[in-house]
Amino acid sequence: MAEIKVLFATSEVAPLIKTGGLADVSGALPAALRAIGVDVRVLVPGYNQVMSQLANHQVVATFDDLPGFPSSRLLFGTMANDVPVYVLDCASLYQRGGGPYQDSNGHDWADNAQRFGLLSQVAAVLGSRASPLTWHPDLVHCNDWQTGLTPAYLHFAQESAPSVMTVHNLAFQGIFPSEMLENLHLPPSCFSIDGVEYFGNLSFLKAGLFYADHITTVSPNYAQEIQQEALGFGMQGLLSTRSASLTGILNGIDTDEWNPATDPHLAKTYSSAHMSGKAACKVALQRKLGLNLEPAVPLLGVVSRFTHQKGLDLLLEIAPRLTELPVQLAMLGTGDAQMQKTARDLAHRYPGQIGVVVGFDEGLSHQIEAGADMFVMPSRFEPCGLNQLYSQRYGTPPIVHATGGLVDSVVDCTAATLKDGTASGFTFDGETVENLFNTIQRAVGLYHDTRQWEALRCNCMAKNFSWKNSAAAYRAVYLKVLGQQD
Ligand code: ADP
Ligand code: GLC
Repeated sequence: MAEIKVLFATSEVAPLIKTGGLADVSGALPAALRAIGVDVRVLVPGYNQVMSQLANHQVVATFDDLPGFPSSRLLFGTMANDVPVYVLDCASLYQRGGGPYQDSNGHDWADNAQRFGLLSQVAAVLGSRASPLTWHPDLVHCNDWQTGLTPAYLHFAQESAPSVMTVHNLAFQGIFPSEMLENLHLPPSCFSIDGVEYFGNLSFLKAGLFYADHITTVSPNYAQEIQQEALGFGMQGLLSTRSASLTGILNGIDTDEWNPATDPHLAKTYSSAHMSGKAACKVALQRKLGLNLEPAVPLLGVVSRFTHQKGLDLLLEIAPRLTELPVQLAMLGTGDAQMQKTARDLAHRYPGQIGVVVGFDEGLSHQIEAGADMFVMPSRFEPCGLNQLYSQRYGTPPIVHATGGLVDSVVDCTAATLKDGTASGFTFDGETVENLFNTIQRAVGLYHDTRQWEALRCNCMAKNFSWKNSAAAYRAVYLKVLGQQD
């Protein structure tokens, strides 16, 4: 059977540009798919950060006459992990300061509909007869709202490839005024409940969910949750009608990038057979964040966007009580201005016990995974979550709200799960401050039982979260959509 060719369209890909887990997935999944014989190529916008890292690329196409969009070029190169990448170069839309979606003050770019309309349109052109390339994908794999219009464009194009739409986070939908429809050159007929319309507006994500041939989400549990009102963000009806074409596949992790035995960011590397390096990482982290050097006090780690989704407000609320347990807190994140301020104020009020770094720091994120004793994620919802996977690999049991992919990846520690060797962290139902506090207290109780704690850490480190199985599951979805047998 011929190799399947897949265009993987995404708005961020590590290490070129990253704001969150989508970049990690876009960086690692294509490589894992290539390893099992799928010819995947990535398409990403040419933001400043991407353009400055490109080496040895060639111009392979120019688009001068896409109605409603400025001229753009397609550059072709290879990423450090050997995955081929098409970079959509359109300086007026992508080359500016700030981030991919927002300016440096945290406001969405006013022209996001056009910016991601172009990305979606070019992905569809490459997947249709109109493509100027000699490489023709059999299928276009879209990710989140930024590429949500691609399945719609493909639907209306001639001789076009089918599409798969992956939902990484249903909370972000790409909603714009209905008048944009004309600028984006979609037929007026698609502005309907059976189309791209969402409560009177245009929704990029809904376009993807409606027109894609298959939908995937980043964990099996989240695939169920988004069909219910509580976490369906208004899409639960549509998603339920599409449930036969909806598959949940748990994200994997890049086990080379996230490996405590080789991680160059760590003060000392370690493995489950030689754990002394982990204690050295704790000391290094405590020093870096100005925390007291008390080996017996458990250190809780957090690396997160500071948003309502992540439930960090709950953790900040109980932080003073936590210092009395006692535990120390090491927090890294950016986001909501008020949460950032509260976190910084706490660090001032509890010097030596709470350390906070506001910013985006890849190295420090690894150091927290390694140096902390436990990792906290009180997310209100979590499509998959990657940090709980990293923390288990680093022998840092996660404490998580039982939601989304956290349920699929963390086994609560009980007498039974400790005994059968499956326990890998602590989960709690209901995202209340009391439940969070009680669960942290439960974890701290076990921490002081050294033998049990070591067993728990060992279980965590023995788990396999590599992309291998998940990549095979994506390949199975591609085959199904293409109507091919293995
Ligand atoms: P989400 O994509 O919803 O933010 P995930 O858990 O899937 O959540 O992925 C978040 C990714 O971004 C992880 O790789 C995490 O380490 C990283 N990350 C989040 N905030 C920061 C930060 N402030 N500095 C460095 N890395 C961060
Ligand atoms: C989103 C979700 C997160 C998921 C990530 C990668 O950002 O919030 O839970 O892990 O996408 O799929």
